[in-house]
Amino acid sequence: MNKTLLLLLLSVSVFAQKSFKVASPSDQISIQVSQGADRAIKYQVFYKTKEVIAASDLGLSLKKPALELRKFQILGVDSTVVDGTWKPVWGEVKEIRNNYKELTLHLKESGVLMDVIFRVFDDGIGFRYFFPTQDNFKHFIVDNEWSSFTMTGDHNAFWIPGDYDTNEYTYQRTKISEIDALAAAAKEKDIAVTSLMGKNFVQTPLMLKSADGIYVNVHEAALVNYPAMHLKLEGLEFTSALVPDAVGNKAYVQTPFNTPWRTLVISNKAEQILASKLILNLNEPSKIKDSTWIKPQKFMGMWWEMHVGKANWPLAGGKHGANTENVKRYIDFAGKHGFDGVLVEGWNTGWEDWFGNWKEEVFDFVSPYPDYQIDSLTKYAASKGLKLIMHHETSSSVTNYERRMDAAYQYMVDKGINTVKTGYVGKIIPRGEHHDSQWMVNHYNRVAEKAAKYHLMVDSHESVHPTGLHRTYPNWMAAEAARGSEFNNAPTLGINAEHTTILPFTRLMGGPMDYTPGLFHMNLNQFDSTRTTKVRSTLAKQLALYVTIYSPLQMAADLPENYEPKLDAFQFIKDVAVDWDDTKIITAEPGEFVTIARKAKNKDTWFIGSITNATARNMSFDLDFLDPDKTYEALLYLDADDADFEKNPEAYVVEKRLVTAKSKMTFRLQRGGGCAISLRRLN
Ligand code: NOJ
Ligand code: CA
Repeated sequence: MNKTLLLLLLSVSVFAQKSFKVASPSDQISIQVSQGADRAIKYQVFYKTKEVIAASDLGLSLKKPALELRKFQILGVDSTVVDGTWKPVWGEVKEIRNNYKELTLHLKESGVLMDVIFRVFDDGIGFRYFFPTQDNFKHFIVDNEWSSFTMTGDHNAFWIPGDYDTNEYTYQRTKISEIDALAAAAKEKDIAVTSLMGKNFVQTPLMLKSADGIYVNVHEAALVNYPAMHLKLEGLEFTSALVPDAVGNKAYVQTPFNTPWRTLVISNKAEQILASKLILNLNEPSKIKDSTWIKPQKFMGMWWEMHVGKANWPLAGGKHGANTENVKRYIDFAGKHGFDGVLVEGWNTGWEDWFGNWKEEVFDFVSPYPDYQIDSLTKYAASKGLKLIMHHETSSSVTNYERRMDAAYQYMVDKGINTVKTGYVGKIIPRGEHHDSQWMVNHYNRVAEKAAKYHLMVDSHESVHPTGLHRTYPNWMAAEAARGSEFNNAPTLGINAEHTTILPFTRLMGGPMDYTPGLFHMNLNQFDSTRTTKVRSTLAKQLALYVTIYSPLQMAADLPENYEPKLDAFQFIKDVAVDWDDTKIITAEPGEFVTIARKAKNKDTWFIGSITNATARNMSFDLDFLDPDKTYEALLYLDADDADFEKNPEAYVVEKRLVTAKSKMTFRLQRGGGCAISLRRLN
């Protein structure tokens, strides 16, 4: 197809060679890219006819060579249309449509050639910079990126403070004009290491809602060989704030080079924000050719009992949790109830000195404590139909981990272990990198690549915000990278009732989260009477999280002895799927409620999760997604009438109903509550 025809097809209009307009395939979203008299190029984004991103900046400045790439000569413009589908290795749906119009501006400034590429989808846009191979410009150091996102009003914002080292914050809910990251962070006492960026810095994914009900999500896709993008706010304009390395540089790159995509997911329906596959579509296809060894899993773990003080990670101190007998207890329970894995933390030497001293040589990842008989345990696990999950807490000594990764992964293979939970608690040593810097981003990606060579699945904690790379590396199953369930035990802020209604609109936009739901015992003074921490969720809500928080790796986080007396509720965790053919976002509003239905992979079984914040509410929706000619047995795991996340969190009832596609599903969510439903087709 010739270029002129394509331009027409795309309804790209060239006004005096300075303005280019591209609409999405169904005209929902459009962009206008314009060059001013000063040669700067700005972009605007429209939802239907309404402007949602006002004229916003593009460009970069470089440190070496010292160059400002903010004013350009436009050498040419290309455009194309893509419409296709692809199948994820695992996911929320079995097939994903990738349909967009693309506009590429070929630019030149100070002798440097660069492109800016826009993709316009029906649910938002992505753009990125590309530096082609060129003779006189082979490598450079990035100083700043000027991509900005200018809002059209003082929207409601859901945000966490900008921080180079952690994303484990409580979400804030304020107007844009009320953002004060330092004030928010001052309330946080339980985060191991913070590097706050300043009062007006926030992290992505950033969720915004305009007064007239338009939802805008700002994030990035395909974060490869570049630092994470946080945002600096001035007025209504958010500008990319790249995380520096130990000496203040942002990125070292060689041409040809693509920056990550800057993404805006936009809709007037909150449900469509959650249904968007834009970020996944902007990532590269899987690099793993044979992915038959990659399996979604449910697991239990020798884990929470250390967090709640029953046991401990180190051998010294007399409370070593990862001893053979205790791990056997987990294997017995998990095996009996059909789980795929048992995570064991504290299995290896080094925990006596892992935190606070920031030493480089703490763990070698191949030396079990003497009371942990790894060979007999892996065999025992296999006899019960499951595998152990290895834990590699790096204590952020990442150079040490890099040196030991091959040996550690080979050790796992030799022991028949195929999944590793990595962790990065503390300051990155020895050089003082940040968790979200280019060097660390490359490290996390290297872990995914190297683990794939050994056929290992990865679950990373304290890693950078995910950006859809699970399409490219489907063995990187999940990450924590936000405030997870472990914070229920944090003395200061803990996890508030709205947290899990915000996560889908923020952290989860980038990929699956190892949130570790399933807590059944809410008063956390069970083993230590001095504790005042409590899980601020009803038990039914803990069940609903298995559906509302998407992950192909789901943990049943509580202790066997806490599940044992409530096996009727535990049945939902046993039944719920971890891989899906289809997902329907039934209703959702950030900070308020989320209700999602998912159809299990290759089965006519549906699971529904519905959660609320601290407000009780009645829910009612159609089941028209069910097979129209069939009857289903619905098991509802409900908040009891007197359940309340503060006063009576463990009160639940299980109720059976027969339903069809014509039925309405109705139930009540109590304060801080939820409802989990399984729907099994009857013959
Ligand atoms: C923080 C992780 O998020 C948690 O799951 C783990 O138990 C501890 N670090 C110890 O590695
Ligand atoms: Ca953590």
